[in-house]
Amino acid sequence: MLEIKDLSYNIVEPDNENNILKNINVTFEDGKIYVITGPNGSGKSTLSKIIMGILQPTSGHIFFDGQEITDMPINERAKLEISYAFQQPVTFKGLKVRELLDVASGKKNTVDKLCDYLSMVGLCAKEYINRPLDDKLSGGELKRIELAMVLARNSKLNIFDEPEAGIDLWSFEQLTKIFTSLKNSCNIIVSHQKKILEIADTIILLRDGQIEKIGSLNEISPLLNSRTCHKLQGEDNE
Ligand SMILES: Nc1ncnc2c1ncn2[C@@H]1O[C@H](COP(=O)(O)OP(=O)(O)OP(=O)(O)O)[C@@H](O)[C@H]1O
Ligand SMILES: [Mg+2]
Repeated sequence: MLEIKDLSYNIVEPDNENNILKNINVTFEDGKIYVITGPNGSGKSTLSKIIMGILQPTSGHIFFDGQEITDMPINERAKLEISYAFQQPVTFKGLKVRELLDVASGKKNTVDKLCDYLSMVGLCAKEYINRPLDDKLSGGELKRIELAMVLARNSKLNIFDEPEAGIDLWSFEQLTKIFTSLKNSCNIIVSHQKKILEIADTIILLRDGQIEKIGSLNEISPLLNSRTCHKLQGEDNE
């Protein structure tokens, strides 16, 4: 279980102070899927990076399974089994896909196991396991490999920042299956996609750095369609 208490994140600029997150209070339970949504610039990526330890909050506290992790560095959080998939995936130049997945899972995987991870993310294992991680991979391929890495890590808490970015709409069902398959862990997904909001147990709506509402899709939907909010992606594809 992850608990965020009175968390704020400010950036002090020469002529003003930018309050990017304001007094965030939320609890994420194990075995559930949480989707954080909200307009561009509302603070979703900032919040997810703070949970992973990539950014330090200005004030407030974060507890993971009862232990305070607010000041804990990323590598220590990773040891506690907190995983993060970036909005813009990073490449690990010099590694092959199979080596990356072995590093992620902390052991040498059989070809069958690698095949499982890659087929879960819609990649044909034979084609990909020996591919080097370089700029020849497309954005969508990289994003899928990053998702496979999170599967291989098998963490207690998984954070995905816009996993749909660069993934073609045809693959959406498969993408949602990945999240529903991670049912033993706590999953936090930042997303604008209706199909992903539909699989959430709980949705957290952020606006201007504050939690506007926490609730089910039915409770959140009227706020998403309101004049001042972004239009949900995927609504026209039904
Ligand atoms: N280092 C920084 N310096 C100044 N402003 C920043 C910095 N990092 C983020 N911001 C601002 O903080 C706000 C929140 O950014 P964040 O990336 O968390 O938004 P987001 O909700 O993830 O948006 P998107 O939907 O576009 O991904 C934005 O207005 C952004 O410009
Ligand atoms: Mg973002």
